[in-house]
Amino acid sequence: MAVDLLLGLQWGDEGKGKIVDVLTKDYDIIARFQGGPNAGHTLEFDGIKHVLHTIPSGIFHKNAVNVVGNGVVIDPVIFKKELQALEGFGLDLSSTLLISRKAHLILPTHRLLDAASETAKGKAKIGSTLKGIGPTYMDKTGRNGLRVGDLELDDWKEKYRALANKHEAMINFYNVDIQYNLAELEADFFDSIGALKALPFIDSEEYLHQAQKAGKKILAEGAQGSLLDIDFGTYPFVTSSNTTAAGACTGLGVAPNRIKEVMGIFKAYTTRVGSGPFPTELFDQDGETMGRVGNEFGATTGRPRRCGWLDLVALKYAVNINGVTQLMMMKGDVLSGFEKLKVCTAYNYKGNKITHLPYNIEAQNVTPIYTEMDGWQEDLTQMSAAAQLPKALNDYIAFLEAELQVPIKIVSVGPDRKQTIHR
Ligand code: IMP
Repeated sequence: MAVDLLLGLQWGDEGKGKIVDVLTKDYDIIARFQGGPNAGHTLEFDGIKHVLHTIPSGIFHKNAVNVVGNGVVIDPVIFKKELQALEGFGLDLSSTLLISRKAHLILPTHRLLDAASETAKGKAKIGSTLKGIGPTYMDKTGRNGLRVGDLELDDWKEKYRALANKHEAMINFYNVDIQYNLAELEADFFDSIGALKALPFIDSEEYLHQAQKAGKKILAEGAQGSLLDIDFGTYPFVTSSNTTAAGACTGLGVAPNRIKEVMGIFKAYTTRVGSGPFPTELFDQDGETMGRVGNEFGATTGRPRRCGWLDLVALKYAVNINGVTQLMMMKGDVLSGFEKLKVCTAYNYKGNKITHLPYNIEAQNVTPIYTEMDGWQEDLTQMSAAAQLPKALNDYIAFLEAELQVPIKIVSVGPDRKQTIHR
């Protein structure tokens, strides 16, 4: 049985959590493959909004097992809070949430290092969520990290101490003003380890291998978006993991030839939170409207998201890198009321028209070239079938499908589970 992938095609916040929740009824296993609590996956149903950071978005369904894969980085303190919130809704996670032994742990000092590094960068800062993601992946690739499986060994606290001591020396090296009480942070960390240890630790690659052999349906869930990928994103303004399709292979131990559908999610416009280039960013009333109507504030940090028109040059790049076989368009409802819509179909790059994403997409090099289309005025939020969608929206969709050469299978018209139209 093959594995399907679901990932974001822009700068994150596309709405992956909602769609995973909608699709989980068709799967036996939901497995998250990268990122950590920098992510904020928002799900809404029965009038309640849930935000998940590390836990896969299939967790509200009894039919599926959720796996936190080896490619994920876990902060036990945030993880414990997520567990408590879910237990508050009466969920028993003791057998439906499994943790890879090979996942790396975020230490309190990783978070401090993130803060020190960002402070030292000044104006050139990445705009990190400051959850310790970069420093944790640095320790992973530097072969110094502490993994979930280490917690089963007697000497894990010694390993912890050696790593935390190294971090303290590094924080001092940055020589910036970071206020912290390490004793308090560590007490919280050690306390939270207990909550993590209450869940089953597994060799997740073997578990997923056996599940495939047994014919189980697996959905791999990504975090962030393709343009934040450590290799293919707008470096250095990226996160520290592979958010693209290949990340599911390394982040779960799934072989490339086992992957079937690659579902790519994008917003009908574009947003970005944090620093870095964004060619179609708007600084006018249109951008303000998108942010207000779309409630564009980071689910993890609360920061306002930068908004702009849909960038097809960047979207095509993401479709190609991921081998996307199906698209899902989110937040079409937010564009209701615009008389005209713009879609960026090419860039003016240093005086030349180009249709690919160049190495250097900073504002001084790139100006978007737009195709203008009619907008739609209808409120989409109560619609439930493709036949109800207005003509101008169908034209928008047809234009995107022709440009991207991939069908748009889902159109989301609001945050609730029910506000999802299948085509
Ligand atoms: P970090 O991964 O927290 O270090 O953040 C690096 C960059 O990725 C920053 O610009 C963040 O705003 C952005 N980022 C990280 N996680 C997310 C996410 O889940 N959604 C959107 N942006 C994110």
